[in-house]
Amino acid sequence: MADFAWWQRGVIYQLYPRSFQDGDGDGVGDLAGIRQRLDYLAWLGVDAVWIPPIYPSPMADFGYDITDHCAIDPLFGTLAEFDALLAEAHERGLRVILDFVPNHTSDMHPWFQDALRGRDAAHRDWYLWADPAADGGPPNNWRSHFGGPAWTLDPATGQYYLHAFLKEQPDLNWRNPAVARAMAQVMRFWLDRGVDGLRLDATWHLIKDEHLRNNPPDPSWHAGLPEHEKLAHVYTSDRPEVQRLVCELRQVVDEYPDRVLIGELYLPIERVVAYYGTTGNGIHLPANALLIGAPWDADSIGAAADRYEALLPVFGWPNWALGNHDKPRIAGRVPPGHSRLAALLLLTLRGTPTLYYGDELGMRNGEIPPAAIRDPIERNMPGLGRGRDPQRTPMQWDDSPNAGFSPGQPWLPVAAGFETVNVAGQRADDASLLTLYRRLLQLRRAEPALAVGRYAGQGAPPGILRYEREHDGRCLTVVLNFNETPRRIPGLQGRVLLSTLGRDEGRDIDDSLLLLPGEGAILAGRPDPAAG
Ligand code: NOJ
Repeated sequence: MADFAWWQRGVIYQLYPRSFQDGDGDGVGDLAGIRQRLDYLAWLGVDAVWIPPIYPSPMADFGYDITDHCAIDPLFGTLAEFDALLAEAHERGLRVILDFVPNHTSDMHPWFQDALRGRDAAHRDWYLWADPAADGGPPNNWRSHFGGPAWTLDPATGQYYLHAFLKEQPDLNWRNPAVARAMAQVMRFWLDRGVDGLRLDATWHLIKDEHLRNNPPDPSWHAGLPEHEKLAHVYTSDRPEVQRLVCELRQVVDEYPDRVLIGELYLPIERVVAYYGTTGNGIHLPANALLIGAPWDADSIGAAADRYEALLPVFGWPNWALGNHDKPRIAGRVPPGHSRLAALLLLTLRGTPTLYYGDELGMRNGEIPPAAIRDPIERNMPGLGRGRDPQRTPMQWDDSPNAGFSPGQPWLPVAAGFETVNVAGQRADDASLLTLYRRLLQLRRAEPALAVGRYAGQGAPPGILRYEREHDGRCLTVVLNFNETPRRIPGLQGRVLLSTLGRDEGRDIDDSLLLLPGEGAILAGRPDPAAG
């Protein structure tokens, strides 16, 4: 295990700062709240916590629109509180990863405010400007991911500026070396403070075609999908130059020992793996969305895992996630009872897992009444099911009002069912999902084969996913029954270390194992009798 970095061995927990714990009673989560809950994270047994943006922001995109990259928004606390949080996390053996948002700033950022002063402004070229098309409209057909054109006219200077997301989030010009230098200083600011890693937001968007060519139509578009998906974003994302850029960002991280660079990437898996760099000089963990996008069946998931393993460069370390603050929660995407299978999958596939807060309880997407909608995606593109409020509802700590999240009115409504789905109740229940997550996390620590071992997919009956993890001669077999009926899995020997339903644990299996619907298990190879 010592040959592996902490971010290879460990498990990352992603929280959403507005929704994890409110420490000051204003209904919005904050640093004081996170500090109160560090003991929970240590008890759960994760290794690192990823905190999405906590920087000063007008909150048009809830923190992904930043006005000062080197400070803390008063809504969340102060820099001194952040330093205290970091120290307290480290005391508990928890690492801290922050979001780093290089693609854009807030339109209220002093750089952009300066850029608006005129075509000769010092920061004008820090952003992406273009003259109107011949008809006075936007320079080309590029569309924003949050609805509408990706260009907004600045009437005072007569030019359009580009924004991949909201018009309040102007895109930075990464071809300008001054931008690269300034953002490297931002990274150093946090790395100097002792932050253990950075998650690059919107990595694949960083560079756009310099000729501003129109994006071609995407023939797979159909009614019901957001309008920007009518276009294939070939000239606005995953441009070849992004590869060079991520290597430069990696060099900054490499100025510090033992830090991790994670990259957000929604791309086909063969493109995701390109972000490791040609020699491992790119992103440590280019995030894959395979378990978020794959149909929930043994064949699809097994094929996705095998293909990913086959595509990984020799120096590439895999990673997995079931969800995040942008995607519907896993509990609602799988059949009832399959949250347990999902937990087993996430924590036993080879690679670094990221666990989204509340998924360890089986939290479900909240119902958001129209008057409570906060997410700009839902506001701009209503009814398409892309709104992200449902997966950002307050963490469910107990069955008290507001689920123990806040004494004040929570910024988003608490999801239904919190009276039974909460930490306090599940902590006390040996059969709960939370207990299962905790046991799996403990087993990963105890069994290097699970944390860092080799992966080998294995043939299995229909609806069964089976794979082996092996390290230093210790071989574990993982079997998962996706069927709605019990299945006997032939050709299995060894001791049952864990079952997602707590069945047969400690029992030695001679030739086959019966799995109930939605049950999964981990078996250790039969101990060598000669070894005593
Ligand atoms: C990706 C982030 O995860 C998402 O929440 C955000 O809205 C966009 N990037 C824009 O920053």
